[in-house]
Amino acid sequence: MKFYAILLAASMFVACTPKETECTVAVVPQPVSVTQYEGSHKYSGAVVTRLDKKLGEEEYVLDTRRARPVITGGSAAGIYYGKVTLGQIAEQTGGEVPCLLIKDKPQFAYRGAMLDCCRHFFPLEDVKKFIDIMAEHKLNVFHWHLTEDQGWRIEIKKYPKLTSVGSVRKCTKVGHHRDVELGFDGIEHGGFYTQDECREIVAYAAERHITVVPEIEMPGHASAALAAYPELGCTGGPYEVICNWGIYPDIFCAGKDTVIRFLEGVLDEVCDIFPGEYIHIGGDEAPRDRWKECPDCQAKMKELGYESEAQLQSYIVNTIEAYLNAKGRKIIGWDEILEGGVSQSATVMSWRGAKGGKAAAALGNDVVMAPNSHFYFDYYQTASREGEPLGIGGHLNLRKAYSFDPFEDLDDEVKAHIKGIQANLWTEYIADFDNAEFHLLPRLAALSEVAWNAGGRTDYDAFVERVRKVLVPEYEAAGYTYADFAFRNPPVE
Ligand code: ACM
Ligand code: ZN
Repeated sequence: MKFYAILLAASMFVACTPKETECTVAVVPQPVSVTQYEGSHKYSGAVVTRLDKKLGEEEYVLDTRRARPVITGGSAAGIYYGKVTLGQIAEQTGGEVPCLLIKDKPQFAYRGAMLDCCRHFFPLEDVKKFIDIMAEHKLNVFHWHLTEDQGWRIEIKKYPKLTSVGSVRKCTKVGHHRDVELGFDGIEHGGFYTQDECREIVAYAAERHITVVPEIEMPGHASAALAAYPELGCTGGPYEVICNWGIYPDIFCAGKDTVIRFLEGVLDEVCDIFPGEYIHIGGDEAPRDRWKECPDCQAKMKELGYESEAQLQSYIVNTIEAYLNAKGRKIIGWDEILEGGVSQSATVMSWRGAKGGKAAAALGNDVVMAPNSHFYFDYYQTASREGEPLGIGGHLNLRKAYSFDPFEDLDDEVKAHIKGIQANLWTEYIADFDNAEFHLLPRLAALSEVAWNAGGRTDYDAFVERVRKVLVPEYEAAGYTYADFAFRNPPVE
């Protein structure tokens, strides 16, 4: 009798367990686990959402085994990502959502994309579109590059000439910067974001669980600021907002205390606008030629007992870091901030390949990997460059972006300092947003895959198929311009 009761219970149990079937849905990025069961439900758009603090903040579970899908998230962000995944599935199945149990969480807490709004100014609607695209790829940090040699793009009330003078250049280089003979277009290029507009962007991003990290460049890439306030340079100017692309010798003077006071004044307003933890202070490509000749810079070196001008760069970075730390913020800077010494609380953004990031992580600094080798999406996407608009150079196809291993050659202790990855879109040669989309898509999907999927990226062809099935229809529905090189037969690489 007992024996039959057990058999009966076992058979009931089996009968109640939905049968697992082969997975028919695609998701980008690939979730940690997807289990598909027999059956499906017509999706009405209604979902049940639940918070479960036991899950990681951005972790979610999506359960579509009942008519109304249930999304459980560790926070509102987790629930948001569950909805993005459900949207991808509903879209590709025409709303007939199969019975699924999906569990997912990101590999990295920092999943960034940078837009350079200085080399070319992008209207607010384009900035919002960039944020929309990020959200569709489950990224969460918008790095907004706001100051440059070619234009200062953020209103600072204490220093109005930064925008009245510094946001406008007289002309723009025609062709590649190597093509000297092509000269300049003679057309004024300008634009800036008011503080209200910046706040609008912060709010727009926050609705999509994206934090904005503003970048205020120092000490280099400062020509626009110097054009506005020449007393901040070593020579006193005059200076111009630059029409060409490249690296320029006139940078903020490291010897004048008024420069530090100026930067603090700018950052006071920046911190009032942007509530996020990080402020990006740039730090890249700052030639020290002027500092070598400048009596103020040399006097500062003597005062501080420095032997090299590189230490002056550290002096600026460390002074500004202390100022921002006192306001409860953290700095992040390009990997040059390592030169001359940097405090351990600074986060290093590795752009000259991954080596700066590895060195920084070994020193105990937190790192965001944004290597030009894999994530500079202004680079060309094919070897032949056929069918591509004029670009800065390089060769970075979808396969290459997908192949990035953020932990290559790192031991476990050092690995813990890699906080995330980021794509950078510099815009010297990208003057309109269609072109920006062409450069981002679908490479941003590869970045997203690396940012979320800790399981290793071993099947590039399957990844391309998922992108084709899930994201390409989304791109088309949204009217985005995307590069189709990876989807051609044969693919163009
Ligand atoms: C950089 O690309 N100069 C950070
Ligand atoms: Zn100086």
